[in-house]
Amino acid sequence: MRIALGVSGGIAAYKAAELARLLIQRGHEVQAILTDAAQQFITPLTFATLTGRKPITSLFSDGSAESTLASSVEHIGVAQENDLLVVAPATANVLAQFAHGFAGDFLSTMYLAFTGPVVLAPAMNANMWGHPATRSNLEVLRGRGHVIVSPGDGFLACGVIGPGRLAEPVEIADAVDRACKPQVVHDLVGETVLITAGPTQEPIDPVRFLSNRSSGKMGFALAEAAAARGAHVILISGPVDLHTPSGVERVDVKTAEEMRNAVFAHLDGVSIVIKCAAVADFRVASVPQHKIKKTMARFSVELDPTPDILAELGRKKGDRLLIGFAAETENLVQEAKRKLEAKNCDMIVGNLVGQSDTGFESDDNQVILVTRSGTTELPRAPKRVIADQIFNESMKLRLLATAPYAH
Ligand code: CTP
Repeated sequence: MRIALGVSGGIAAYKAAELARLLIQRGHEVQAILTDAAQQFITPLTFATLTGRKPITSLFSDGSAESTLASSVEHIGVAQENDLLVVAPATANVLAQFAHGFAGDFLSTMYLAFTGPVVLAPAMNANMWGHPATRSNLEVLRGRGHVIVSPGDGFLACGVIGPGRLAEPVEIADAVDRACKPQVVHDLVGETVLITAGPTQEPIDPVRFLSNRSSGKMGFALAEAAAARGAHVILISGPVDLHTPSGVERVDVKTAEEMRNAVFAHLDGVSIVIKCAAVADFRVASVPQHKIKKTMARFSVELDPTPDILAELGRKKGDRLLIGFAAETENLVQEAKRKLEAKNCDMIVGNLVGQSDTGFESDDNQVILVTRSGTTELPRAPKRVIADQIFNESMKLRLLATAPYAH
């Protein structure tokens, strides 16, 4: 794995050199990033020697036009090139910067641009570690799914005995290895999950159609995640240019009507339905047999509504878990809540579309999960990560529904 190793300014910075050595020994490539304060404790040369790469020591360059241009986007490049970010030691200041999204130096800027797993190994004075500000920053960071390698108790450099001493490098390296290979849970064994994905195409004439910009990536990521967690997966897909995830049963359709028929033909034994497809809401009322010629100065087509597959599934719900999507350009929460009730779903995954970096076509997504117990906003992440978070939330709903004291 390619690992970005952030080192911030604490006396424990010297232990980061040992961590770099361990990570290299375990076969990782390491790119060190030293904050200004870290460089007061340890030199870039130490990391250059251990990692074989020039450490990053500044957001800005040495002043030459060429290197200014290169460094102006380097944080994005480093964020994209690396699979995992580990910060050891992570000072109270780094935790605060990360928790609040400040981007004042290379490390904090790169953090904001980074979408992979993050491991933080804090080290600080015992009182700073126990301060409510640090506690609440840690809560925020844990809430984002970051791994916190807790500091140990011991004799601290400030002369105090207590918690705050950086975890041992081998412990941090183990946490990095675990985060690189996230434990696959097999909590969907015995479930049959039906997922719809992609757009639909509604013919206008034999050569033209109405469609939308859905790429199908979110639905395929859901299918891959469900199969990895042990489910039998049926993926009903509109026309997309994607490979079928391994172990997934795929059914290709074109129109909303075909998708509806495929869904109901495969519904027997299905315990979870996720309607991720961007189904066309209208179809041409009467499709001509022959191509429409351009001799007409203007022409109009009459559109009829397509069947609302999710609403029909909601009416015939039984004890199936029913999850819909809401792609909106405005009033996201309001619309997601309305669709949750109107279509009798257990969860609506809402996302804002019409932006370039998330939603349709993008590899990343930023969504909210709306259930009857509340709304959870997930941070922007790759669609495959979002897919797992959707299943985590679904499994909580399943537990709630079967809990003896559930209302
Ligand atoms: N959906 C469906 N059949 C349709 C239209 C939508 O099953 N004919 C499903 C989608 O797969 C999605 C959910 O309904 O899970 C919401 O789709 P969306 O396009 O966001 O909403 P609409 O119901 O079409 O409502 P509106 O166009 O007013 O936003």
